[in-house]
Amino acid sequence: MADNWKEDRMRSPRRILITGGAGFIGSNFVHHWCSNYPNDRVIVLDALTYAGNRQNLTNLENQNNFRFVQGDICDRTLIDNLLQTENIDTIAHFAAESHVDRSILGPAAFVQTNIVGTFTLLEAFRQHWYNFTPIQQQQGLFLHVSTDEVYGSLNPEDPAFTETTPYSPNSPYSASKASSDHFARAYFHTYGVPTIITNCSNNYGPYHFPEKLIPLMCINMLLGKQLPVYGDGQNVRDWLYVIDHCRALDCVIHRGKPGETYNIGGNNEVKNLDLVRMLCKLMDELADNLPITPCEQLINFVKDRPGHDRRYAIDANKIKNELGWTPSVTVEQGLKRTVEWYLTHRHWWEPLLSEEYQAYYRKVYA
Ligand code: NAD
Ligand code: TYD
Repeated sequence: MADNWKEDRMRSPRRILITGGAGFIGSNFVHHWCSNYPNDRVIVLDALTYAGNRQNLTNLENQNNFRFVQGDICDRTLIDNLLQTENIDTIAHFAAESHVDRSILGPAAFVQTNIVGTFTLLEAFRQHWYNFTPIQQQQGLFLHVSTDEVYGSLNPEDPAFTETTPYSPNSPYSASKASSDHFARAYFHTYGVPTIITNCSNNYGPYHFPEKLIPLMCINMLLGKQLPVYGDGQNVRDWLYVIDHCRALDCVIHRGKPGETYNIGGNNEVKNLDLVRMLCKLMDELADNLPITPCEQLINFVKDRPGHDRRYAIDANKIKNELGWTPSVTVEQGLKRTVEWYLTHRHWWEPLLSEEYQAYYRKVYA
């Protein structure tokens, strides 16, 4: 489908604050935004936790309309200052602790960033928004980027999650995201602050930190290490190429209705074991000099994740019918591009396998 929604709404240049813009989805979104809207002022606020990487943004740093600020979304003084001095009209809020396994090891950081941090941003934006000009009021927005994991786990025969599926989070990560979603919703209903929530399925693509399933498998194959599949490998995820997520968020910012929620998904339900096998085949085909081939012999079933959700699936009909968004990349195309990216970006991922990362890895997989 053509991206004709872009022309649909009058727009003057935006002044957009992107939190978590040095992380996986955030940095893909920053690239998308800067190349599509070069006249917009783009401020990235990122604490550069283990998951944040300024290298993801290197070729943008010398552009006039771009500014990177290292800081914490829980720092109210900093946020107030940025909103005022940069005259921000739009917040795209990605910053979060995002990994379920880390939330099981240490949930406190998830409460702090995902709940307290989101609350801090919403409060600051509420105060700031009261002083908006009419144009800012027309296009100003707080986009809260969230996950399908807030809806809990599906049985094989259950229909996919819709925007009205009751929340039922099962991990400290999803519980903290659910809480932040409720705050974003309440700020619209109570104060009229223009918030929109998006709940998206599992993303994959460039700049994905090595701890998550797809990059972890790609990197382990390149290093000849075992491929740890949790439990029986029959858990199902609905995979979306990250660029399509960014296109969906762009669409929501331009055409979405404040107070609404939009589910975003790839309509690509795949069992973990099948996905790992697809990655093995791609790696066997595309990589030279792999330490061990065929890669499938590296698959190793390991102890299951506690509380592991069995199945996620997204019904993305609302965003398709109301805003005209559909994914542009099939899972086969997206996985091939992703494997190629990890093959050609060893210089990006190798430094991330730090001592801290190895210690985390030992804790989860020992
Ligand atoms: P990520 O972990 O790769 O990146 C998170 C970024 O936030 C990092 O750059 C980190 O430095 C920054 N950050 C963390 N704490 C911060 C703080 N207190 N202040 C400022 N910055 C901070 O995460 P991601 O996978 O890019 O996810 C981005 C958002 O999208 C998250 O809100 C996540 O819940 C949501 N989401 C992710 C997926 C997915 O599959 N990865 C799917 C749906 C929704
Ligand atoms: P992950 O990428 O952590 O995303 P999420 O838990 O947010 O869905 O994991 C995706 C799926 O892959 C999930 O069912 C857990 C599983 N998994 C493994 O089997 N092995 C691994 O080493 C990892 C990281 C995940």
